[in-house]
Amino acid sequence: MAGSVNRRWVVKQRPQGLLRPGDLALVEGAVPEPADGEFVVRVTHLAFDPAQLYGISFDSYRPAIPIGDVVDSFAAGEVVQSRNARFPVGMKVQGSFGWQDYCLVADSSEVTALRSESPVKALNVLGLTGLTAYFGMTEIARPGKGDIVVVSGAAGATGSIAGQIAKIAGARVIGIAGGPEKCRWVTEVAGFDACIDYKAQDIGERLAALAPDGVNIVFENVGGAVLDASLAHLAIGARIALCGGISSYVPSEGAPPAGIQNYMQLGLRRASMTGFLVFDYADRFEDAFATLGRWLDDGTIVSVEDVQQGLEQAPETLNRIYRGQNFGKQLLAL
Ligand SMILES: NC(=O)c1ccc[n+]([C@@H]2O[C@H](COP(=O)([O-])OP(=O)(O)OC[C@H]3O[C@@H](n4cnc5c(N)ncnc54)[C@H](OP(=O)(O)O)[C@@H]3O)[C@@H](O)[C@H]2O)c1
Repeated sequence: MAGSVNRRWVVKQRPQGLLRPGDLALVEGAVPEPADGEFVVRVTHLAFDPAQLYGISFDSYRPAIPIGDVVDSFAAGEVVQSRNARFPVGMKVQGSFGWQDYCLVADSSEVTALRSESPVKALNVLGLTGLTAYFGMTEIARPGKGDIVVVSGAAGATGSIAGQIAKIAGARVIGIAGGPEKCRWVTEVAGFDACIDYKAQDIGERLAALAPDGVNIVFENVGGAVLDASLAHLAIGARIALCGGISSYVPSEGAPPAGIQNYMQLGLRRASMTGFLVFDYADRFEDAFATLGRWLDDGTIVSVEDVQQGLEQAPETLNRIYRGQNFGKQLLAL
């Protein structure tokens, strides 16, 4: 790779809101040379996740990315130099390669062969997104036939897959998403039974009409006011799978986000709310990939990806998620 340039987005300062110029810097350097056991991946696609801004800004379930380090990211790419027989030159791979053109892999324990000929499917249904929807729905939410399931962030990557898994289980699924175009896709393409446009409709009124006896399961991606509205419409014994709360992920630019008002409904309705992290199920990922791959291949589930272009666009591409500009899994092709 002599002569090639490696561009890397590194953290310069902790953001105070969405990413702004100055929070990160695009720096250039030489492509690293692999030592024995190592290999170099040319990154072709980056996967974006709402927790990334958190990871740049704060300590969370893992420490914040140190100042000066490259921004962490799941990605797909191709091995272009190798001194590791298990990862020969030309192999297509997925792993945590970061916001850069080339990644030197010293620890290959979490790098795998690309799970689909399509890198965009590999980073969506056949990546952490599919796994999150799968384990959150089958292990925490556990819908059964006839249950009424509410999924927020329903047109997003995780929510759209989670709702389809609930349909496979025989549930009646109500999505919550922003805007008529997203809601149309959720019902007409992803096959949810209904979708509430939280930007134009009153969630509480719509839930009262769609689920007069209450909802049995909530798969929560958004938190804040959206979760609060679902809490007010729980059936007795409801379960809430707390997948995420994107409405609180952007570092506060003013007053902190409003708190949850309706938490006592958990007591009155004898309901439970359980958080989970996809990594808790790492020893079962391969079985889940087999199931997700079969559903994707035979058309049982559909997915949509939103692919932006160019490494220089990485910060703005991440910002798209918090503005709701992404339609399906947010990716970037390099
Ligand atoms: N537990 C785990 O292990 C795990 C793993 C991965 C992801 N997650 C969580 O899963 C959730 C979804 O992630 P994803 O990657 O699939 O993202 P995504 O749903 O594809 O994108 C995020 C969507 O959230 C909505 N949104 C953004 N800001 C909002 C706000 N203030 N209020 C209401 N909605 C807002 C937008 O959709 P609209 O246009 O519809 O508003 C946006 O498109 C996140 O909370 C993430 O942290 C959890």
